[in-house]
Amino acid sequence: MVPPMASPLRPLLLILLAALACHAAGGSRTHYGHAHGLGVNYGRVADDIPPPRRSVQLLRAAGAGSVKIYDANATVLRALSGTRLTVSIMVPNEIIVDLAASHAAADAWVAANLLPYLPTTRVKYLLVGNEVLSDTSAATTVWPRIVPAMENLHRSLRKRGVSRVKISTTLAMDALVTGAFPRPPSAATFRPDIAETVMRPLLRFIQGTNSYYFVDAYPYFAWAGSNGTVPLDYALFQSGPTRYVDPGTGLTYTNLLDEMLDAVGAAMSKLGHGGVRIAIAETGWPNGGDYDQIGASVRNAALYNRNLAARFAKNPGTPARPGARMPVFVFSLYNEDLKPGPGTERHWGIYYPNGTAVYEIDLAGRRPLSAYPPLPAAENDTPYKGPIWCVLAAKKLNETAVGDALTYACGQGNGTCDAIQPGGHCFQPNTGKAHASYAFNSYWQQLRKTGATCYFNNLAEQTIKDPSYGSCKFQSSLG
Ligand SMILES: *[C@@H]1O[C@H](CO)[C@@H](O)[C@H](O)[C@H]1NC(C)=O
Ligand SMILES: *[C@@H]1O[C@H](CO)[C@@H](O)[C@H](O)[C@H]1NC(C)=O
Ligand SMILES: *[C@@H]1O[C@H](CO)[C@@H](O)[C@H](O)[C@H]1NC(C)=O
Ligand SMILES: *[C@@H]1O[C@H](CO)[C@@H](O)[C@H](O)[C@H]1NC(C)=O
Ligand SMILES: *[C@@H]1O[C@H](CO)[C@@H](O)[C@H](O)[C@H]1NC(C)=O
Repeated sequence: MVPPMASPLRPLLLILLAALACHAAGGSRTHYGHAHGLGVNYGRVADDIPPPRRSVQLLRAAGAGSVKIYDANATVLRALSGTRLTVSIMVPNEIIVDLAASHAAADAWVAANLLPYLPTTRVKYLLVGNEVLSDTSAATTVWPRIVPAMENLHRSLRKRGVSRVKISTTLAMDALVTGAFPRPPSAATFRPDIAETVMRPLLRFIQGTNSYYFVDAYPYFAWAGSNGTVPLDYALFQSGPTRYVDPGTGLTYTNLLDEMLDAVGAAMSKLGHGGVRIAIAETGWPNGGDYDQIGASVRNAALYNRNLAARFAKNPGTPARPGARMPVFVFSLYNEDLKPGPGTERHWGIYYPNGTAVYEIDLAGRRPLSAYPPLPAAENDTPYKGPIWCVLAAKKLNETAVGDALTYACGQGNGTCDAIQPGGHCFQPNTGKAHASYAFNSYWQQLRKTGATCYFNNLAEQTIKDPSYGSCKFQSSLG
């Protein structure tokens, strides 16, 4: 899926450099911590996060009721054993074709990755594939195999007498023609390239097995991409007087998430499956980002997730489906440092990697909003208008990796590294670090319009302080 509709899970662009204990719950949290709260996505694309056992403690401290993991990792599944947390396991995209190909492959997967942990690990959903329908390169190979893989897994579970585990897949909002911001909701339809071939059999399977349609729904991206036409508070569930009335149904909306969910429901209805239940596989709000990204702050992330928890604790449903019960998973447990793309991608956590809460939250939604301590002010709710540069990050760095990134940057664009050649204005100081900063900036200024990010495997960062010196001028984002 592509920005601005991208889910945080998906690397944004190919132009990136290739491949790559104390929680702040405080005493107050124990007071509210017993109810079954929202689920949390336990993403692990990071090299500095706590081990699984500690992570389970942090999940519980935040009041999580369930957890979703991105692969059937044995250590993680064991750490969840004996807890009250229910577990959703994602079946990786890469093995869908194999699972679809034979009963034996599905049997083997279930035997190796699921049965050893039941019933002490309370697995509830198997989610076959992560936003596969957003990846058009998989259109002829994986898309037609998703439902057959789900059917084979379903058959394997039946054969082994496992009746409690439901099967589904996760889909981004781009399964709809209108993408991240489908307004009006009632007009939404599934994309023509998937509607009959994938969605119809998928919905039939989900309905027949009484499972859920799992959607990744991010009001953040819809709001950030709306160019100021949607009030921030409407995205944060504190709309005040803001309302949207769907002209097709007359239904009144008080927040963006409801619009997105009802759009999915409307698209289902058009395929004759309006009764399929919806779950939210991922939602959330980034607690930080780059200077050229708006609205990503601790304040907004805390408000979004706290309001989400308080709201869903009451099972409100949506205007089109009042009272509907809906499993919801917040993205994400940690800020994940190894996720490529813009800065927001690495800032969805409710915890920092050191286990400190980014902000206090009771995912069970019982704590009144007024009972939280004050939040820091938001400083980026409107676009930053000043100049921005991209430089080597100010932290301890692996010199080999910096050298590799420098070489990569210099190979992109036109004349990217001319100024750091011998005799160039920026040749001195002749150090890898100085040259890397120049090259990163030169690369980013040329290519950011086509989606390049200031990332370089976490070696680069944006700055609003002009890095130019002497006769060496760094181009800024203002040209
Ligand atoms: C599972 O997670 C543990 C803990 O992070 C890690 O050490 C291990 O390598 C993972 N196993 C696999 C097969 O990825
Ligand atoms: C965003 O809004 C501004 C001011 O209303 C307008 O000038 C600009 O063209 C809009 N940009 C997009 C991409 O819609
Ligand atoms: C944990 O990390 C955050 C973010 O880097 C920092 O602000 C905080 O002080 C750290 N907490 C501890 C206990 O080290
Ligand atoms: C430093 O980076 C290189 C190249 O990316 C990598 O092969 C090496 O393992 C890294 N060293 C450390 C200590 O992380
Ligand atoms: C580099 O120059 C070529 C030829 O003039 C042009 O097609 C291309 O778009 C330029 N690339 C960038 C990143 O400016």
